[in-house]
Amino acid sequence: MSDDFAPDLLADQHIVVTGGGTGLGRAMALRFADLGAAVTINGRRPEPLAETVSDIEDAGGTAEGISCNVREPEAVQAFFEEAEERQGPVTRLVNNAAANFLAATEDISPNGFDAIVKTNLYGSFYCTQACGRRWLDRETGGVVLSIATTYAETGSAYVVPSAMSKAGIVAMTRSLAAEWGGEGVRLNAVAPGPFPTEGAWDRLVPGDDLERKMRDRIPVERFGEPEELADLASFLLSDLSAFMNGDVVTFDGGEALAAGGQFNTFTRMPREQVKTMMEALKPD
Ligand code: HXC
Repeated sequence: MSDDFAPDLLADQHIVVTGGGTGLGRAMALRFADLGAAVTINGRRPEPLAETVSDIEDAGGTAEGISCNVREPEAVQAFFEEAEERQGPVTRLVNNAAANFLAATEDISPNGFDAIVKTNLYGSFYCTQACGRRWLDRETGGVVLSIATTYAETGSAYVVPSAMSKAGIVAMTRSLAAEWGGEGVRLNAVAPGPFPTEGAWDRLVPGDDLERKMRDRIPVERFGEPEELADLASFLLSDLSAFMNGDVVTFDGGEALAAGGQFNTFTRMPREQVKTMMEALKPD
């Protein structure tokens, strides 16, 4: 975790983090509170919300947890009313709540497709619209940060509903950056590579061998730390990034780019061996 931010970087902000009880959402909520924000987290299960709120309070921060399934538009409206009753006007939103599982696409049922797309895409839209309406009415401006993924751009086998919905989140981010930018509302997204959180790993990483293969694809030779993402998110929610609008920040140790470069496989060979091989290719 960086100690270089001003300790009051996010003071006076009321930040909503969807899916804030666990994983990346929890790490972001802890960090935002540490930087002075009042945080409201939501999620379907009350237990992780209560635990994260209690951890934030133990560290001297301010937080509330409110149960809410972001797939349900009425629940989202009620959530924002309750959040503002408890902690005043919401000023920042992080669309983090996500659903995903590995599946062969021909086997996915309509309910399975809905569970993912409604959580990721509809949920992000409902929350973003709820905030945008408030910020436009109040003429305060505001900031939305959405958690996308690198395969929103490239697509990925076996996670098609997730890829489709994350691509939609990127389209929403770019569209509203134009539509609401003049109203002082800015929207950005982060496209993380693999971060070893329980929610993602339990569903997406079947075994140690595949985990190793996933790590080997990353040029910096490690997975990301949730605290690193929390620092980036803090920057993107703060006025330090006031001129950034409609961007998608890739945060993956170089993984996505490395998968595309045709000669990147040479990096798996010892460097001296690669040099010898290239030497041999030189014309006499
Ligand atoms: C096929 C499945 C399935 C699976 C569930 N379903 N799991 N189909 N393969 N593995 C189907 C069910 O059969 C059902 O359809 C429908 O999905 C809904 O399932 P429920 O269990 O009733 O729904 P629900 O409780 O809402 O569960 C939603 C969920 C679950 C998505 C299935 O995994 C969940 O709650 N996930 C939330 C947390 C999460 O996914 N975190 C990971 C995000 S990480 P039928 O037809 O039988 O009724 C991420 C990072 C990406 O996105 C980048 C990584 C590198």
